Amino acid sequence: MDKIVMKGGTALHGEVEVSGAKNAALPILASALLADGTTTFRNVPDLADVATMLEVLRTMGCEAARLTGKKADTCEISIAGTITPEAPYELVKTMRASVLVLGPLVARFGRARVSMPGGCAIGARPIDQHLKGLKALGADIHLTEGYVEARAKQLKGGMVNFDVITVTGTENVMMAAVLAKGRTVMENCAREPEVEELARVLNKMGAKVEGAGTSVITIEGVESLNPVDHAILPDRIEAGTLLVAAAISGGNVLVKHARPEHLDAVMDKLREAGCTLTVEDGGIRCKAPRSLKSVNITTTEHPGFPTDMQAQLMALMTVSHGTSVISENIFENRFMHVPELHRLGADITIQGHTAVVKGVKKLSGAPVMATDLRASASLILAGLVADGQTEVSRVYHLDRGYERLERKLRGLGAEIRRVKERA
Ligand code: EPU
Repeated sequence: MDKIVMKGGTALHGEVEVSGAKNAALPILASALLADGTTTFRNVPDLADVATMLEVLRTMGCEAARLTGKKADTCEISIAGTITPEAPYELVKTMRASVLVLGPLVARFGRARVSMPGGCAIGARPIDQHLKGLKALGADIHLTEGYVEARAKQLKGGMVNFDVITVTGTENVMMAAVLAKGRTVMENCAREPEVEELARVLNKMGAKVEGAGTSVITIEGVESLNPVDHAILPDRIEAGTLLVAAAISGGNVLVKHARPEHLDAVMDKLREAGCTLTVEDGGIRCKAPRSLKSVNITTTEHPGFPTDMQAQLMALMTVSHGTSVISENIFENRFMHVPELHRLGADITIQGHTAVVKGVKKLSGAPVMATDLRASASLILAGLVADGQTEVSRVYHLDRGYERLERKLRGLGAEIRRVKERA
């Protein structure tokens, strides 16, 4: 197991490039199931979760691989022989987003058997809305032996009104509806840029999806779809994390490929904290102020402040002047970074789904443990400013969603390295 060892205190300077978006890549890789022939995706981040999705596709009988050398950002997927439309427990338990194969499988092959994802560290995360949507399109759904079994000779367009706004739920049902007979109207959809990106890919394949990026998506089913070649959009959460790295370290960094239209809420909060943000050269520059100010944060669905940036902003607030109130409204257990931030000297109190962060003059380095993906990013951000050495263990969480973060930070001047931990 690897750990990250770092020494805080260096202001980050320079330019850094954002990789492709994990949460766009996962549904988009699954969408390859909808077409015959070879589908090519570029700018696919090299992450553990992406490797898991490729493995899920291979287990079913697809050819799915990342190319090498100069094309290492490219994945090719083709359906050569017979597909076994099944995602086994062994893979789904390591990545709940594996459930994204459910919609495409039942739409294209008439049946799917996908292990039920259990809860995870940040919350219970049920998939009832995915199933509700598929049922509305005529799928017959049974839960047996820990698996969801879905069947439909031919899905039919229908009305889906989500009770809860769900990102992967919206994506799963969208991928089913593109091959359903007739028109589907989906209401109360997630409006995340990754949902829009998936719709862009589906439309390139020949689907008729309208309204993605708004809360109502209308889909006119088509008979078949074609393989495509598509470059995945940049990761807004990685971009936001790098902007916070500039802010917390007292630096000045250009985050290349960061798209301001996807980062409004994060940029607003960084500005409110005193940072200077400018859009330039195909990216966003963040210049830290002399002294950071505390800001309040409430996570909501897009276009609100993203839950996936809550832990990182909390790290920033631990060293800002004043008191910050951070409310987490998407997941019920997404404060697991708090006890670890305490170990670095942060002053944080949790009351239900709210954390009150009193800024301290300084943090001091310590060994800490990553508990989930964004928590690990927040500990590394805190380590950038903590006095002395911070060691973050269990970085496999980090590797699920950040492509070589320590190398990117080192390129900006951070004293940070990855070391192999003895078993
Ligand atoms: N929910 C239900 N029923 C459902 C689906 C969701 O009650 O059928 C609830 C969830 O329990 C949660 C809320 O609805 O309380 C929102 O969950 P959502 O379904 O939107 O989350 P998700 O699709 O499972 C995606 C991202 C997450 C991100 C959330 C929220 C992917 C692969 N994952 O998860 O990303 O936090 O949306 O924006 O797109 C991460 O990258 O670190 C990460 C966790």
